[in-house]
Amino acid sequence: MKIRLLASVAILTATSAVALAQTPVYLDNSKPVEQRIEDALSRMTFAEKVGLCTGQAKFSSRGVPRLGIPDLWMDDGPHGVRAEVNWSNWKYAGWTNDSITAFPALSALAATWNPEMSALYGKALGEEALYRGKDVMLGPGVNIYRTPLNGRNFEYMGEDPYLAGEMAVPYIVEMQRCGVSPCIKHFALNNQETRRQFINVIVSDRALYEIYLPAFKKAVDAGVWSVMGSYNKAYNEWCCHNKRLLCDILRGEWGFDGCVISDWGGTHETYQAAMNGLDIEMGTHTDGMVKESTEPFDAFYLAYPYRKAVLEGQIPDSTVEAKARNIMRLFYRTAMNRNRGFGSIASEEHYAAAKQIADESIVILKNNGILPIAPGKYGKILVVGENATKDLTAGGGSSELKPKDMYTPLDEIRKIYGSDVVDYAKGYMSGRYEYHVEHKIPQEIQDSLRRQAVDMARQADIVIYIGGLNKNSFQDCEGDDRYSYDLPFGQNRLIEEIIAVNPNIVIANVTGNGYAMPWADKVPAIVQSWYLGTMIGRSMADVLSGRVNPSGKMPFSVPYKLEDCGAHQLGERSYPGLDIESDNPYQEYLDDILVGYRWYDTKKIPARYAFGHGLSYTTFAYGKPTVSSKSMTDGETIEIVVPVTNSGKIAGKEIVQLYISDEKASVLRPVKELKGFRKVMIEPGQTVDVAFTVKSDDLKFFDEKSHSWVAEPGKFKALIGASSTDIRQTVPFNYE
Ligand code: GLC
Repeated sequence: MKIRLLASVAILTATSAVALAQTPVYLDNSKPVEQRIEDALSRMTFAEKVGLCTGQAKFSSRGVPRLGIPDLWMDDGPHGVRAEVNWSNWKYAGWTNDSITAFPALSALAATWNPEMSALYGKALGEEALYRGKDVMLGPGVNIYRTPLNGRNFEYMGEDPYLAGEMAVPYIVEMQRCGVSPCIKHFALNNQETRRQFINVIVSDRALYEIYLPAFKKAVDAGVWSVMGSYNKAYNEWCCHNKRLLCDILRGEWGFDGCVISDWGGTHETYQAAMNGLDIEMGTHTDGMVKESTEPFDAFYLAYPYRKAVLEGQIPDSTVEAKARNIMRLFYRTAMNRNRGFGSIASEEHYAAAKQIADESIVILKNNGILPIAPGKYGKILVVGENATKDLTAGGGSSELKPKDMYTPLDEIRKIYGSDVVDYAKGYMSGRYEYHVEHKIPQEIQDSLRRQAVDMARQADIVIYIGGLNKNSFQDCEGDDRYSYDLPFGQNRLIEEIIAVNPNIVIANVTGNGYAMPWADKVPAIVQSWYLGTMIGRSMADVLSGRVNPSGKMPFSVPYKLEDCGAHQLGERSYPGLDIESDNPYQEYLDDILVGYRWYDTKKIPARYAFGHGLSYTTFAYGKPTVSSKSMTDGETIEIVVPVTNSGKIAGKEIVQLYISDEKASVLRPVKELKGFRKVMIEPGQTVDVAFTVKSDDLKFFDEKSHSWVAEPGKFKALIGASSTDIRQTVPFNYE
């Protein structure tokens, strides 16, 4: 062994010496990227190549100073560029020039059902990242909404893989057009925060390929430049260096040519990290949020231990070449991309983009006609709820932001209706944000706030309730799941007591998750608003007042009670998992392919509000569809055109949805699956033809035996709907 070690050291040293001797001062940048990569690699020493594979700071990995290869700068998050963090600890650096546009959360972007909003988002955020000197933005997150308790659902794009993929791709493409790399995350099966850094997820291949992978695959097919491994395990291997996920599927089946970056602290072992597809190790020995490492960065698994293992012949040097090649490709696409601009930050254009996305995300769940609230109609409006004034971009974990401006709902409602008309009562308190810590507010304070709000509600003509969840731990926040499906801080009692004295109330809660609404039948209107960032107040005020006709629809179902949800009906093995406090917790996705509406509609458990549901201030009628054919075979398509009429009095956007239903299959299939959607603006009285193309791929399920996608001959139906349960037209056809 000693001789081998000496020999391999000799070879690598010689190579390095030759490389050093050959190296002119600068790289040859005149060639296409793939040739520039090979040119750079040919000049690097062994140590320089290994050096690319680990972080050198909280959010930076090293380049090669000798060759003019700059450091690579990454940053959170999916909703905006995070405030500058110190070089080697999680504390904020206290800069005064890093305030930014806080864009709506990705759950809101998904609720727009508008790929144009996704493109607008990716471009604007890419420009803000450029201006802040960031090469990699750590998002979007597309983990599927399996349980309403998941603390990070607000960062993700709902319960349906087709919607999540369609709404992530334009964001990715437009950000990459800026020369900034998104880092789609968290790959994969990170669908809860409870014990996220340890839990081993067991899932069938069908559920993996049909539910949990498609959004990632769509991103890879669109050419995403980087992927973040997730903290949890799958198949008993850490996902940040997981042979099945990263080598067999991501690289092998999908042909991913980008860079795999670990979640912060998601790397656990040198050999696996070297052999199983990880390229850049970040945040090791920390917990990705607050826990610091006392080790030097050279203690990372892919730093000194990796160099040593290669030199001792325990790990092939070819793994170093492969990683360095993937990393240099990321460099040339971003930090060394000579065509990229300088970006911009908190600009009028970006504020307008954030406003438009927010406008199109707000969902009217219920409205008996009380909405919109016409300015001047009421003499005394009372706004109740902490979320009417609270900065909801603070907290939530790594997606936390420092916005340059914040237009709160209360301020903007006052601007529309008049400060003399609009009064405010906090109603409840939530306490300050501190990661992993819940600050309980003394009950007497809550009681006093509640009594005050109820007293004021008695005197008001109408109440606008703006409460909901927030970014505190155990709410919509990374690191922990919610304790309960209920609204926190005594809000249900507060809402009930207000209704008792003034039934003229509009509930306009801000959340990133579904929640129980025991009072829903007693209120005239319910609005689902989201963490909308800088423009939250202007968008909510414009929708409530009718300046904007709402057009959002739900990206996830809202069950009456938690037990109705598949993940929660099938015992602790399903959620949150077993041996949960041990070092080896595990869970099995026993709901399998029946997630979200696939569960509720197949099991005939009605949700309070369905996936895809959302009302407008106008109405839409769906006419009889025309169909190009009544049958199709593999590779063929069927064209369906549905005339949709705006049967109301004002212009509005409608989201027309296409679901496919397989009448009879050799395996269990959901009664319907989303396979298309179109968001169309329609003037009052106008009719627009909405066209869909049904492809044979849309009929397929993942067959575990053949490890391939299969469509079985037989009867199918195309269901055209305004939501997953509001099916307006049905088109039967045969697959032969
Ligand atoms: C966190 C998150 C990840 C984030 C990273 C850096 O733990 O899981 O989404 O991008 O660490 O903050």
